[in-house]
Amino acid sequence: MNISFKPLASLLVLSALSFASFGQNNGPVNRIGKVSNVTINGQQVNITTDENEHVQVQVYSPSVVHVRMDKKPLGENFSYAVVGKPKQTKANITQDNDAITITTDSLVTRISKNPFAIAFLTKDGKVINRDEEGLTTSWIGEEVTTYKEMQEGERFIGLGEKTGGLDRRGSGYTNWNTDAYGYSTGQDPLYATIPVYIGIHSGLNYGIFFDNSYQSDFNFGASNDRFSSFGAQGGEMDYYFIYHDQLEDIITSYTDITGRMDLPPLWSLGYQQNRYSYYPETEVMRIAQTLREKKIPADGITLDIHYMDAYKLFTWDDSRFPNPAAMNKKLEEMGFKTTVIVDPGIKVEKGYGAYERGLKDDIFLKYPDGVNYSGQVWPGWTHFPDFTSEKGREWWKKELKYFAETGVDGFWNDMNEIATWGQKMPNNVLFQYDGHLTSHKEGRNVYGLEMARASYEGARQHLPKQRPFLLSRAGFAGSQRYTALWTGDNRSEDSHMLLGIRLLNSMGVSGIPFSAMDIGGFTGNPSIGLYARWIQLGAFTPYFRNHTGVNSKSSEPWAYGEEVTEIARNFINLRYKLLPYIYSNFYLAAETGLPLMRTLAIDYTHDPKVYNGEFDTQYQFGESFLIMPFESGKNYGKVYFPQGKWYNLYTGEVETGNREEIIPISYNKLPIYVKESSIIPMQSLVQSTSEKPTDTLTVHIYKGDVNNSFVYYEDDGASYDYQNGQYYKRTINYDARRKAITFDKVEGSYNSNFKNIKVMLHGFDAKAKLKLNGKNQKAQQDFASFIDPISRFDPQGSANPKEGYNVQSFVIKNDKDKITLSY
Ligand code: NOJ
Repeated sequence: MNISFKPLASLLVLSALSFASFGQNNGPVNRIGKVSNVTINGQQVNITTDENEHVQVQVYSPSVVHVRMDKKPLGENFSYAVVGKPKQTKANITQDNDAITITTDSLVTRISKNPFAIAFLTKDGKVINRDEEGLTTSWIGEEVTTYKEMQEGERFIGLGEKTGGLDRRGSGYTNWNTDAYGYSTGQDPLYATIPVYIGIHSGLNYGIFFDNSYQSDFNFGASNDRFSSFGAQGGEMDYYFIYHDQLEDIITSYTDITGRMDLPPLWSLGYQQNRYSYYPETEVMRIAQTLREKKIPADGITLDIHYMDAYKLFTWDDSRFPNPAAMNKKLEEMGFKTTVIVDPGIKVEKGYGAYERGLKDDIFLKYPDGVNYSGQVWPGWTHFPDFTSEKGREWWKKELKYFAETGVDGFWNDMNEIATWGQKMPNNVLFQYDGHLTSHKEGRNVYGLEMARASYEGARQHLPKQRPFLLSRAGFAGSQRYTALWTGDNRSEDSHMLLGIRLLNSMGVSGIPFSAMDIGGFTGNPSIGLYARWIQLGAFTPYFRNHTGVNSKSSEPWAYGEEVTEIARNFINLRYKLLPYIYSNFYLAAETGLPLMRTLAIDYTHDPKVYNGEFDTQYQFGESFLIMPFESGKNYGKVYFPQGKWYNLYTGEVETGNREEIIPISYNKLPIYVKESSIIPMQSLVQSTSEKPTDTLTVHIYKGDVNNSFVYYEDDGASYDYQNGQYYKRTINYDARRKAITFDKVEGSYNSNFKNIKVMLHGFDAKAKLKLNGKNQKAQQDFASFIDPISRFDPQGSANPKEGYNVQSFVIKNDKDKITLSY
């Protein structure tokens, strides 16, 4: 008896011990514990746990729930990213011994009490997302992480500017804004932090936005199949859970929270010529003149750091640019806008105006002992304005005025991660964080956002009548409110061109619709084929800028031989002809947050093929164009046509969807397909947006089996008059069943630039009887052509000496009243 008791006793002791070790606190890991107190306050539940953690779960809207947790009582919800406000929402909140249940019209949130764990469910009880019950939320010192149960077949997309495939399952990422010169295709982190992702499984999709600017980590099942997680090195666990049936609506809800872009100036959607650096003035003028002489349309010239005097911000190098205002005026007369680079580092130099004024206004980032932080960058030792203080931003705005007065139109915010040589900014540098004094650890990731904000507000203040253009390298969630983002110092390599597409697609689902990569690559020199392919793709990216590094070969469209000049001209021309379509899509981005570059995951979310590594760079440009990016030098490539019918842009031939296919690829023609039922407005060719196109808008309609509509939008493209109703907007509908195309009544008071509308019918029966507002209408034979043939015989291209195919068209008056066409 005694003998047998001993082992039993030791077993009991052991299990008691192990129970303790699986209790709430495991050494340094402090789990959130179980619910000890609950207060319900309107749409909000406040909870404390037995581990003394504080939780707030707030219904933000029927489809969004805001969760906050901290080790201390939750105070003010300060955030640089968030501009939205919670909506008054009908929410039913109940509780019993086990759980608190919050039910809205779209979503059920169930908070288990022991242990504390949150589950988000559909109204019919399907799990959308839930805490991993063993791990839930925990702290290690100041570091806080929430663990979510990995769902069967779950995929993850988004997280902004992140390398890797479209589906991030199996990978982990860090957010810490970093100057990543010549980054590799798998490098992480890069320049910007956009801590929002979308989870997809079992026919469901949801978004999680983690609003915390400390260095953060996301784990989408890297080295484990148990959980996905997100956490940060400090601050609160603060996240928004978003649930919608359609992935598109998740992006719209996310941008309700973090804001949307303004309508951009039309010129910023034209072609932009750039290099590090064009100088002196005669060189800038030579580039501008050559673009015009060679009839390569362009709207922008960008000046990199050599325009400054010894890289001193807010100066011009007098010997290189003796009269910048006069130069900018000359450029303006030629239809060019000037964008200048602005870096945050202000040279430490006695007598240098910006430095002296910065000292006087006391706006630089400081160590805790009050000494200004100095780091080395282009000009040598520099101080950095604290853009997280009102004072710092106001100072910057005053300094920008000088530039605005020299006729500059755009501000390119570079090096704002913050980049310093050595890449190691001390963590004890203080950031004002607008009244919430903090360290570099929390301040760094929002620095680029707040710099862009100061530049945006400055530009708006000094140039009140014109829409500013801003470009930034670093950013955070919410940057879309102020600026376009570009992907920094990429390499002139095929893999980088394709990576760039994935980066921009990822930014698009993360609320950043206005984005760019350096076309042609920044480091190294592209091959002729790569350059040709990249510039074709560039025409189908939101901000179309050719840029290259200081030591690389010239990268203007004529630098790679006559044939490439023709190819580049073809696609830049196409870009300009597509501006009515592109501008209308930017209107959509400004209204809904939806990107121009749409990964196929937006429209074909639950089709596993779109996540396949072979196809995951394919994307839609607006809803109509399906772009198939391929490395240079390929004669054939495998593509995937999603559900539906797809027209070859160049030949009009139709491909059926839900199918993989090997297609021939010619190096002068990016493979592009048009979705059935598409409505694509186009204009005549112009050399810049300052030139008026002819007065006929061509609307291409592609016959299809599904209904479609397109919101056509036009305004002056430059001012804010549209905010007072001066726009021209109408929805164009394609009704496949009723066999009708309708132009709804025009809204807004702007007079369209187009007196006529030419309707071009693709794939329609040539014998169909057309009626315009009930009266018979005669169509004419026409020719649909999107690019010109290049002079050399092209073995892969169309045998037709003219690129295109026969269609029918007819011209109607652009009446403001409803127009109905039937066929
Ligand atoms: C770094 C930027 O990423 C690059 O685009 C720029 O040309 C250089 N800084 C010089 O300003």
